[in-house]
Amino acid sequence: MRTTPACTFRRNLQLSLAAACLCIVASYSTLAAQPAASPAGGATVSKPLSQDEKMQWFREAKFGLFIHWGLYAVPAGTWKGQQIQGIGEWIMNRAKIPVKEYEQLAAQFNPVKFNAEEWVQLAEDAGMKYIVITSKHHDGFAMYGSKVTKYNIVDATPFKRDPLKELAAACAKHNIRLGFYYSQAQDWHEPGGAGNTWDFPPDAEKDKSGAYDQYLCGKAEPQVKELLTRYGPVCLIWFDTPRMMNVGDRAQRFIDIVHTLQPACLIDGRLGGQGDYRSMGDNRIPNEVVHEDWEVPATLNNTWGYKSYDHNWKSPEDLTFKLVDIVSKGGNYLLNVGPTAEGLIPQPSQDNLRAVGRWLKVNGEAIYGAKPTPFGEELGSLSETEKDKSGRPAFKARTDWRCTMKPGKLYVHLFKWPAGSFELPTIKEKVTRAYLLADPQRQALTVRRNGPKWSISLPQTAPDPMDSVLVLEVK
Ligand code: GLC
Repeated sequence: MRTTPACTFRRNLQLSLAAACLCIVASYSTLAAQPAASPAGGATVSKPLSQDEKMQWFREAKFGLFIHWGLYAVPAGTWKGQQIQGIGEWIMNRAKIPVKEYEQLAAQFNPVKFNAEEWVQLAEDAGMKYIVITSKHHDGFAMYGSKVTKYNIVDATPFKRDPLKELAAACAKHNIRLGFYYSQAQDWHEPGGAGNTWDFPPDAEKDKSGAYDQYLCGKAEPQVKELLTRYGPVCLIWFDTPRMMNVGDRAQRFIDIVHTLQPACLIDGRLGGQGDYRSMGDNRIPNEVVHEDWEVPATLNNTWGYKSYDHNWKSPEDLTFKLVDIVSKGGNYLLNVGPTAEGLIPQPSQDNLRAVGRWLKVNGEAIYGAKPTPFGEELGSLSETEKDKSGRPAFKARTDWRCTMKPGKLYVHLFKWPAGSFELPTIKEKVTRAYLLADPQRQALTVRRNGPKWSISLPQTAPDPMDSVLVLEVK
């Protein structure tokens, strides 16, 4: 176990102190958000949540807003007149910008048009149930009033406000859960942080010299504690790129911090230790149903952080298909916006998200809390002839329809409107009733048995051009 004794002693002392304070706070607030058995005298005794209880909101939510916002919104993809390839929030790395130069962006960062209420209202309009915002990204800049370093939005910019505080208040008002993205391993501002090899030695040296553990102990851990003790209930911590995290108890220390300060707070799959759910690769939707809790982080264009010239927006049709595709395979969709340096969410992002939100207003029943498809053939199959890049049989996805499920109900999502009728793959249940979710009257459609299969007659035209949901009651 490689940790510095001082680091561990200080950490345990801080944790037990913080936990002690929090126990007092928790007995008066919902911070720990744990169901409580209340013995006589009213004092609350916290009963640890089961994993199912912890995951319940996540399994119900299905759709969240990811927000990548930081100093990288100032250059917005261009450095010294050069357009820098790749994702916007990596500009410091891609352009090998020295810390001394990159730091100066803070003085130019003054997002006076930032309005937390408007951002949260957008999430609500889009039908999203949780928000995850970058509290500190790989560039090391804290997007909140951190006491651990002056390199933060309150102390280092003319803006001087704490957007996480304002977002926490707006989320509470709109009953939307708030989570924080935190880059625990990579920190290009710190000599001991991983990833900056243009100002500092290679990561392996930082590891060997103890500089990395110093960074973890001196900045990352205390900042995660700040996030879990100053912004009310936090629904999840979204760690990322777990470089050198699988050494000793580096990951376990973060798990202990989260479990001690906010036991109900989830940990994503990129800590480098045991998380509460699996994080898929960026924009990587699995081909088939995955029987565990999982989430796909995804972009609306080709970047997470704002790039002024990236207009490659995915259409509302594509976004709705992806949402349904992910839910029909058992996952959550965490869809990103990259606000500008003024604090505005690009209009195309807003428009496309609101279009998905309008669809969800009518069809949300087939998404929130839904289970994956009981079939699978509709997802596609392996090609007998074509090979993928790694020489394995290529997966040929099908996109005509998808299925989500709830007890006693199947929701068939029709992206390609069949002519006349829809034939369901064989099921052992009986289809007792069928109707279109978009039909306020829920008028019964004709259901016929066709051997082992059920066939449902459909009207001439699809009620929704993006995705028309056919509801089948079965028993
Ligand atoms: C990758 C990128 C990071 C981004 C994250 C979102 O890890 O490195 O910049 O925040 O994906 O999923």
